[in-house]
Amino acid sequence: MGSQWGRDSAYTRAMKEGYRSRAAYKLIEIQDRYHIIRERDNVVDLGAAPGSWLQVIRGITRGTVLGIDLSPIAALDGVETLVADFTDPSLPGQVRSMVGTVNVVVSDAAPKLSGHKSYDQARAMALGEDALAFACRVLKPGGNFLVKAFQGEDFNRFLAEIRDHFLSVRTFRSRATRKGSSEIYIIAKNFVTTHEAEGSV
Ligand SMILES: C[S@@+](CC[C@H](N)C(=O)[O-])C[C@H]1O[C@@H](n2cnc3c(N)ncnc32)[C@H](O)[C@@H]1O
Repeated sequence: MGSQWGRDSAYTRAMKEGYRSRAAYKLIEIQDRYHIIRERDNVVDLGAAPGSWLQVIRGITRGTVLGIDLSPIAALDGVETLVADFTDPSLPGQVRSMVGTVNVVVSDAAPKLSGHKSYDQARAMALGEDALAFACRVLKPGGNFLVKAFQGEDFNRFLAEIRDHFLSVRTFRSRATRKGSSEIYIIAKNFVTTHEAEGSV
């Protein structure tokens, strides 16, 4: 107990500071250290509800900010939202026509937990793979990608897959992550695969 990032204190702090969830502090830490979002970037946030990452992103960039979630996201000034499943193969095309150039994709998406740890982790990793596939279809060359992952069986393979598409790939464990959790974030910068073959801008 006792760290400033402990469950209750982080939650209380988030509410006091007007964030919709304690997850805000994870993105703040990552942005402070890795500068993944620049002030004119267009950013797509996957698995964005209730919207604390969107609040943080809105404070960083003057570009377009789009949040996508299976659940509705309560309105936020200057933020576009979409109720959708980002694993839907038609979504990248829709997002490209809404946003135009996408500079950054972030994903804090997580499936509903069943309580069976290995099953839940496998589903969470599969969602991370879906987020990567989405990012590869919308990002402009040179763009950045942040994704939540879990250390376990498939982690190294997932990391290697990300390395195939980005020049710089780092991992980061946030102080705001609960003790005992295997959650880890992957920060991938400088997207190198173009998607001209799909006829995107
Ligand atoms: C941990 S929450 C995200 C918290 C968010 N970053 C914030 O700061 O408020 C994970 C979210 O992922 C969403 N999610 C899971 N699978 C999804 C999918 N296939 N498409 C869209 N959203 C998804 C869930 O509905 C849930 O709201």
